[in-house]
Amino acid sequence: MKLAKKDWFFIILIIAVFGGFWAISGEVKTKKVPHDDAHKRFYDAFNSGATKIDLDAQCPSCHFEGPGGIPFPKEHPVKPADGPMRCLFCHKFKSK
Ligand code: HEC
Ligand code: HEC
Repeated sequence: MKLAKKDWFFIILIIAVFGGFWAISGEVKTKKVPHDDAHKRFYDAFNSGATKIDLDAQCPSCHFEGPGGIPFPKEHPVKPADGPMRCLFCHKFKSK
């Protein structure tokens, strides 16, 4: 069977769609917010309707650079110096 031009188009389309899923699934590999004593109140607040943007603003009370803070890994994609960080945009809540 000889592949016509439109068959190739279809094959490439399928590869592109699967590539897209793969790229999206890679994103959610970023570590999730731990469900522990330090973070439980954020789960509770979120489940009672708080917006992620409001909650983001509270993360730096523990997560900051310097003495007493929980430092970010060196390769962290954003730094506190870049301005307010949308933590929960990248670090998702666990689903249970
Ligand atoms: C009361 C202090 C405190 C606050 C507030 C806090 N964290 Fe944390 N966070 C910690 C501590 C301590 C750790 C390291 C130990 C652990 O995993 O709980 C940590 C670890 C993490 C980790 C890494 C988890 C892992 O698997 O390595 C992520 C992601 C995280 N926090 C996100 C957040 C986000 C997002 C917020 C704001 C919604 C937040 N934290 C607010 C104390 C805090
Ligand atoms: C643009 C996306 C992005 C944003 C915004 C972001 N992070 Fe991260 N963070 C990452 C990535 C990617 C890593 C690398 C390790 C991983 O897979 O979690 C990381 C790693 C971490 C770690 C170390 C996890 C570990 O144990 O290896 C902590 C703690 C953390 N982030 C907390 C935060 C907090 C708190 C905020 C908001 C102040 C924040 N992050 C904002 C993407 C992001």
